[in-house]
Amino acid sequence: GMPLKYLANQVNLGIGAALETRHLQDPQFKETLIREFSQITPENEMKFMYVHPEKDRFDFSKGDQLVDFAMENNMEVKGHALVWHIQNPKWLEDGNWSKQELKDILENHIKTVVGHYKGKLAYWDVVNEAFDDNGGFRETLWYKTLGEEYIELAFRWAHEADPDAILFYNDYSTEGMSSKSNAVYRHIKALIEKGVPIHGVGTQLHLTAENPISDSAIARNIERLADLDLSVHFTEIDVRIRNSEDGLDNQAKRYGKLMKLAAFYPEVDLFTTWGISDKYSWIPGWFDGYGRALMFDENYQTKPAYKTVQGIL
Ligand code: XIL
Repeated sequence: GMPLKYLANQVNLGIGAALETRHLQDPQFKETLIREFSQITPENEMKFMYVHPEKDRFDFSKGDQLVDFAMENNMEVKGHALVWHIQNPKWLEDGNWSKQELKDILENHIKTVVGHYKGKLAYWDVVNEAFDDNGGFRETLWYKTLGEEYIELAFRWAHEADPDAILFYNDYSTEGMSSKSNAVYRHIKALIEKGVPIHGVGTQLHLTAENPISDSAIARNIERLADLDLSVHFTEIDVRIRNSEDGLDNQAKRYGKLMKLAAFYPEVDLFTTWGISDKYSWIPGWFDGYGRALMFDENYQTKPAYKTVQGIL
């Protein structure tokens, strides 16, 4: 069969993968990436602690390597992530900042990072994971000192720094209909009505093979976001399997259902998996007893999930 990126291109869908620069040293990883994928997201290397390790020092060396690679291979890049509560540098976490100081830090961070990549990145994840599971604002270092206004400010500053970049809000457990996805929908809608430059919503989709989730709920959520003229991205797909179980068929079904939705809705224009092969996935390190979450196995052989996705396209 044809590589996924060519098939998906026929329905204007990008096929993406998260990666780190070190993965490009692995010839099989690189070959698979170039063959199958049309978009990349830096898995870590554009996060605050890596690009802004000291208050007055930025480090774009790794991020630049990924962007150069993408340009050479005709791939789009999604910057990830400007504002988050995890993977922040110690100087930022430990500073006892006043409201004005923290505002200045965030403005400088966003304008410097987005400005550095101006014209090179198609998309940015501007704010990541701002809501808790009940739909309240997550008590992050940003929220505690700046209040909910930090979200709107972040989007405005990013837009000023690169008016052509397509700007996203990104979160997990927001794919279906829930308190959390309702909160995302409500708040993003209110910000859009205020004229805040938000262009899309990403849903991460770190799922388990064993838990069925409602496809009609995902469809309804996509439709209400599309009604706001937003683009929808599937940003961090993986479907983890319990080590004690086979699970490959359930996993394939889940991947297939996601691809059906992505291919059906024109508003969904990115289908990005959080890695390529089970060799480097973050899952075993973060979810005890789980693994094998991606479409390629540790030897870069296609799994049933790949075949199912390919069959749908
Ligand atoms: C993860 C990376 O995959 C890990 O390597 C890192 O140690 C922690 O972060 N939501 C996100 C991603 O938005 O940035 C996270 O990535 C996974 C959850």
